[in-house]
Amino acid sequence: MTRLIEAADYADLSRKACDFVVTALRKNPASVCIFPTGETPLGLFRELVAARKDGAFDASAMRAVTLDEYAAIARDDRRRLFLWLRRELLDPLGIPDRRIDAFEPSASDPQAEAARMERRVAELGGIDLAVLGLGANGHLGFNEPGSAFDSRTRPVTLAADSIRSNAAYWGSEADVPRQALTLGIGNLLEAREILVLASGAHKSAILTQALGGPVTTDLPATALRSHPAATFIADRAALSLRA
Ligand code: PGA
Repeated sequence: MTRLIEAADYADLSRKACDFVVTALRKNPASVCIFPTGETPLGLFRELVAARKDGAFDASAMRAVTLDEYAAIARDDRRRLFLWLRRELLDPLGIPDRRIDAFEPSASDPQAEAARMERRVAELGGIDLAVLGLGANGHLGFNEPGSAFDSRTRPVTLAADSIRSNAAYWGSEADVPRQALTLGIGNLLEAREILVLASGAHKSAILTQALGGPVTTDLPATALRSHPAATFIADRAALSLRA
């Protein structure tokens, strides 16, 4: 059952998302968590860092697994998504490397690197909480339209839509790597709890489809409708096209 929490605006969405994550971490401080990169989660990250400073939760046992990463770039490439996540969330929360599992973007054999992450997630006992963004094309991680709902961790090629939207992070489309690694939709569906964030009018058409349109691999986020504990938090702008 997909649950929807409505937020008034981006600030409210970020606070509500923070409450959700803090509740999960209080219940299970040793949670294995996925956090997305992108613009949408930045408010949540600020709230989480502040909440932890205020003693709202203990981050000393939680673990992080990266959701996706560009491939065929250097470990210290400015575009490495993990470095973004580390800067905005994991370092401020004080999560050390030993409690983080990240894709190696420079791996010479991306297939083997994907298999390594797949094994790591299994060794950790799976994902407790997956926080996800919603791509403008409905992707989850880099599971682009057409990805099978039982897909596993693997190398992928970015869709044209993702190259366009990721250009906003790095300067231009030419700056966006074309190859990536991602946990599969099958991996995400095995997470015990899922939280999806959607903000802004530019997400309203895809969010409306994700929540109420036909379930189809053309729109990866519709896979979540079969998940027993998937929650969307969306602001009014993102919900503006919903009947
Ligand atoms: P955004 O990215 O938060 O920057 O909109 C979401 C995504 O592509 O998953």
